[in-house]
Amino acid sequence: MTGANRGLGLEFVRQYAAEGVHVHAACRNPDKADALNALAASSKGLVKVHAMNVADAASVTACAKALEGTALDIIINNAGIYGPKQQSAGDMDYAGWAETHAVNTMGPLRVAVAFKEHLKRSSTRKMVAITSQMGSIAQGGGRGFYAYRSSKTALNMVINLLANDWRDEGITTLAMHPGWVRTDMGGPQAPLSPEESVSGMRKVIAALTPAGSGTYLDYAGKPIAW
Ligand SMILES: NC(=O)c1ccc[n+]([C@@H]2O[C@H](COP(=O)([O-])OP(=O)(O)OC[C@H]3O[C@@H](n4cnc5c(N)ncnc54)[C@H](OP(=O)(O)O)[C@@H]3O)[C@@H](O)[C@H]2O)c1
Repeated sequence: MTGANRGLGLEFVRQYAAEGVHVHAACRNPDKADALNALAASSKGLVKVHAMNVADAASVTACAKALEGTALDIIINNAGIYGPKQQSAGDMDYAGWAETHAVNTMGPLRVAVAFKEHLKRSSTRKMVAITSQMGSIAQGGGRGFYAYRSSKTALNMVINLLANDWRDEGITTLAMHPGWVRTDMGGPQAPLSPEESVSGMRKVIAALTPAGSGTYLDYAGKPIAW
């Protein structure tokens, strides 16, 4: 689990641990991850906290190395950023756009590759990326938020490609939209609570089979047009 210190990531950790599942919870700054550390402390050893910045190759490699030999059933690539304030056609922060792609698009691939051997130690082998409906081209009518939208559209392609490339190795991939959720990113006006979104996503992940690899679903399991 990446981005496990707040928002949807923290809620995933809370729900899985409550069911007795072992969770490797990665975040950028474990020293400042008070809520996650408290959860880990009360989890009877189920939750282990690790440092990992998904935009930093050395950090991802170090985390994968620290977990060498560990079987991971499911990888949830959750960490993401909304991107720079200026991200319209007429007013683009290009450095911020590049950073958005480094975190939202390249980060999940980097994590998937670094932890592929851990995944292959399990028979479950599910690789999930939390994308967004805002990355859908087929839904049409999109305006603005060029950095965020394009990073998620590209992430969707990464998930689709990994489904093709890794199918023969029994790895199942999924691009999942969590709904619009009340987190720091989603804001207070969002209709869904993290509890509702994550409990829905966990059901979708549990029901995922190899035949569904490379699909783009929302938190209720409804397919989204690419
Ligand atoms: N909330 C929504 O309505 C919504 C809708 C569609 C999609 N999503 C997607 O859902 C995912 C989770 O979003 P959220 O709502 O939980 O957002 P959030 O509350 O803003 O949390 C984002 C998480 O990502 C982490 N992160 C950011 N950059 C990182 C990096 N370079 N390396 C590692 N971790 C990093 C953050 O860590 P720090 O605390 O260190 O910054 C934080 O843990 C994202 O991929 C987002 O795009 C959310």
